[in-house]
Amino acid sequence: MYSSNFRFFLQTELICGVGVYKDLPDLLKSICNRPLFLIDENVAQIEPIGFLKSELAKKGLDTEEILLRGTEEPDYDYLDNVSDQARNLSCDFILAIGGGSALDLAKAVAVLITNTGSGLDYRGFDQVKKPGITLMAIPTTAGTGSEVTINAVFTNKQENKKLGINGAYMNARYAVLDPSFTCLAPQKVAVSAGVDAMVHVLESFVTTNAPPTNYGFSQRQNSNFLTRSFAREAFSLLYHNLPALIEDPQNMERLLKIQLGAYYAGISLFNSGSGIAGAMSYPLGVHYKIPHGICGGMFALSVVRYNINGGYYGYSELYELIKGSAHTLSQEQMCEDFISKMQELFDTLDVPKSLSIFGIGQDRFEHICEIMQGMQGAFDQNPVPLKVEDVGAIIRPFIN
Ligand SMILES: [Fe+2]
Repeated sequence: MYSSNFRFFLQTELICGVGVYKDLPDLLKSICNRPLFLIDENVAQIEPIGFLKSELAKKGLDTEEILLRGTEEPDYDYLDNVSDQARNLSCDFILAIGGGSALDLAKAVAVLITNTGSGLDYRGFDQVKKPGITLMAIPTTAGTGSEVTINAVFTNKQENKKLGINGAYMNARYAVLDPSFTCLAPQKVAVSAGVDAMVHVLESFVTTNAPPTNYGFSQRQNSNFLTRSFAREAFSLLYHNLPALIEDPQNMERLLKIQLGAYYAGISLFNSGSGIAGAMSYPLGVHYKIPHGICGGMFALSVVRYNINGGYYGYSELYELIKGSAHTLSQEQMCEDFISKMQELFDTLDVPKSLSIFGIGQDRFEHICEIMQGMQGAFDQNPVPLKVEDVGAIIRPFIN
């Protein structure tokens, strides 16, 4: 288990707890002079943000603010627009508050303040040459893990393609996990984010050694004992607490556990890489506007099924976190029960079983297979080989 060589990166300080936002003004006073609030417009009115603004004013801190559009996932044109505004405000710190898209945007703005040019200049992996200004990320949904990952996803509208800015300097310096910020998210949004986190676990837990790449720092695409430890803990927290989003949505302790699960899943994800279902959600998001989390969730169990059928039984370790050690069952039997338990969970969360609810019918099958071309890199991280030309096997059950 400890024998293979690996690298592991984690450079975000975590501030975590119910109501911990009340401690932030003192901390902020000690670490910055002129913070810029980058706030998702959907959450701009929530009480904790009002508290932070008024307490910082009382402490004599000069603040600036930009509201971020909350309706669409960000594109490079919008990133450049916000970055230009931010560059003119001469702030020394960013306080980013919002969902995963808002945090992705804020992370990129932080590095574009200190690196000249436009967002597209830094697209890909490890293209950012200088650290950005210090950033604190406060998620208002629990799922993407953007507050800890080194990734920020953007669409290039001209190419109709999602490819983000990833790698060195793309992490937040501080992350604040406090359900005071997530408890007001609409149920659909909260569930989509939570499912996204579970997809991160299911995929990063099983990533296998991919062919060597030249990408360097941000492309260490294989799980190791440390990423798997984070993934296991994330799985346990998410599996046992995601139903609270439906059954008990104001339970702050359980919401905090979901946030921690998403955070650990993010650590596992960016250190070990993702997989097929997450990758499939990007072209489907660009071409058919299907939300990333739910889209990955739709295909995730289909990929698990494909892997089990292909003789991969690594999910039995996660199964033990549901049922305890079940030594009377074979690994294959554990995996079969694992997939039915996961299906029950996804049914509770109302993860769709058909693309028809997004208006996609039989006639789109060929096109969907076509837009998956170019995803082979992510497919190569799957423990059972799958050629992108054969992706129809994963898609077919969802087309009817
Ligand atoms: Fe994701």
